[in-house]
Amino acid sequence: MNTERTLVLCKPDTVQRQLIGRVISRLEEKGLKIVGMKMLRVDEDLARQQYQEHVEKSFFSDLVSFITASPVVAIAAEGNNAVEVVRRLLGATNPQDAAAGTIRGDFGLNLTKNMVHGSDSLGSAKRELALFFSQEELQDYPLELDAWL
Ligand code: RTP
Ligand code: MG
Repeated sequence: MNTERTLVLCKPDTVQRQLIGRVISRLEEKGLKIVGMKMLRVDEDLARQQYQEHVEKSFFSDLVSFITASPVVAIAAEGNNAVEVVRRLLGATNPQDAAAGTIRGDFGLNLTKNMVHGSDSLGSAKRELALFFSQEELQDYPLELDAWL
């Protein structure tokens, strides 16, 4: 087992289109464990930290306008190889290229409004989780289905 934690963001389009639950279901159905979750408004400062590798890119101002336009839902997801597994669940960055069966492939059409974010490496995951969650906001608990039925 290679248990990892990664950051998933339901971006403003997911919140506005009332698809938060559909995204959470995809994570849960895959077997990932939700160990942290909150709704918050991303301000410009947080957007710059979250997307620090893109600050010089031509699309950066559009990205900041979008990500700050409405609340997001931040999710800490845990599981075996969670970083890569989540990226596969999300699909290609451009929803028009994303495979059917992925979240972006099934729900999106717009490159900027592409529904979800997933950390792109374990290093990014650790950095990004710390931006959105304090240690106390992340839970350690076993999933024990049989005991709860
Ligand atoms: P994310 O960080 O949001 O999970 O997306 P990603 O790794 O698949 O893609 P990345 O290259 O990190 O780009 C970050 C976000 O910027 C927007 N974008 N716009 N107009 C453009 O050319 C363009 N390219 C990227 C997307 O919202 C993308 O998710
Ligand atoms: Mg990225």
